[in-house]
Order: sequence, then structure tokens, then C-alpha cells
Amino acid sequence: MFICQICSEAFIGLEAPSRCPFCGAFEKYFVESTEYDDTGAWDVELNDKDKANAEKALEVEISNNIFYKCASKKVSELDGQKLFKILAKVEGEHAADWKKILKLKKIDFPKYDKCSTEFKPNLEESHSREDRAIIFYGEAAAEAKNPRVKEIFQAFVEVETDHLHLSEERL
Ligand SMILES: [Fe+2]
Ligand SMILES: [Fe+2]
Repeated sequence: MFICQICSEAFIGLEAPSRCPFCGAFEKYFVESTEYDDTGAWDVELNDKDKANAEKALEVEISNNIFYKCASKKVSELDGQKLFKILAKVEGEHAADWKKILKLKKIDFPKYDKCSTEFKPNLEESHSREDRAIIFYGEAAAEAKNPRVKEIFQAFVEVETDHLHLSEERL
């Protein structure tokens, strides 16, 4: 069993996966479960800037989760349904991670139905959403004071870049 040090979820397998099936973090963040230590993973001191960035990240992830959920249900292409469904799951996990960092009791995922019924416009929207997230997370990582917050933002830049490539190769 391996543990992802970004989202703390466990993975059962002969070796660590190239991407965390929950948060999408790269293989380098996995450790064997017997070596995992969650001290400081979620009990984090946030200065005002890190807190504001974590709150903004939570908003971005919720917004992206509900957009992808909508798109996964509306497109007719099976590849599109599968793509947007897994992206919704990963962004939902990211939202859950920020919730833990911010020590919130619950978060709301509002109803959303304003996505397109066509694959291509949803891919274009996905691309611009991921683009914006990558830029913001990169800035937030650079200015983060708390090392754990910095690490999460850095890991998510890589994850959202994976997502960007998924839309790019289909556009
Ligand atoms: Fe993870
Ligand atoms: Fe995300």
C-alpha cells in the first residue's frame, strides 16, 4: 500500500501509480504506507495571503468540479463523458483537500447546468479553466509562506497541466 502525500489517500498496488487516482499528484509524492507520517499534513498555520489563496483555490475547484460534472452528463461522445467525469472527480478531490487545509466543516457544490451539450465548446472551456488555474496556482505557490501550502499548489500546477494536455490533444 502506498500513500499520496498530497491528498493522504491510499493506493493498493505493486508499485506507486504514475498519477494519484484521487488528486492526480505525480508518483514522486507517494511513499510506502509504513513510512507515511501525516504530521502537519492538514493542521497548517495559514498567514492571511495563504488563507486567501487557499479560499480562492477552493472556489476554483468547486467551480471546475460542477462544470465538469455538467459536461460529463451532457456530451454524447463516450470519450467526453469519461474525460469530464474523471476531471470532475479530481477537481472534487482538490476541493476536499482545500476544505481540510481551511478546516471547514462542509463545502457546497451548487447545481450547475450552463455547460454546452457539444464536446468541443466544453473542451475549450476546460482548456481556459485549466489555463487560469495553472497561472493562479503557480503564483500562489511562489508566494506561499507555509511549505505545505506551497507543496500542494506546486503539485496541483502539475495536475492541472495534465488536464490541459487532455483537452489540447482533443481540440
Ligand atoms: Fe493524491
Ligand atoms: Fe484542480
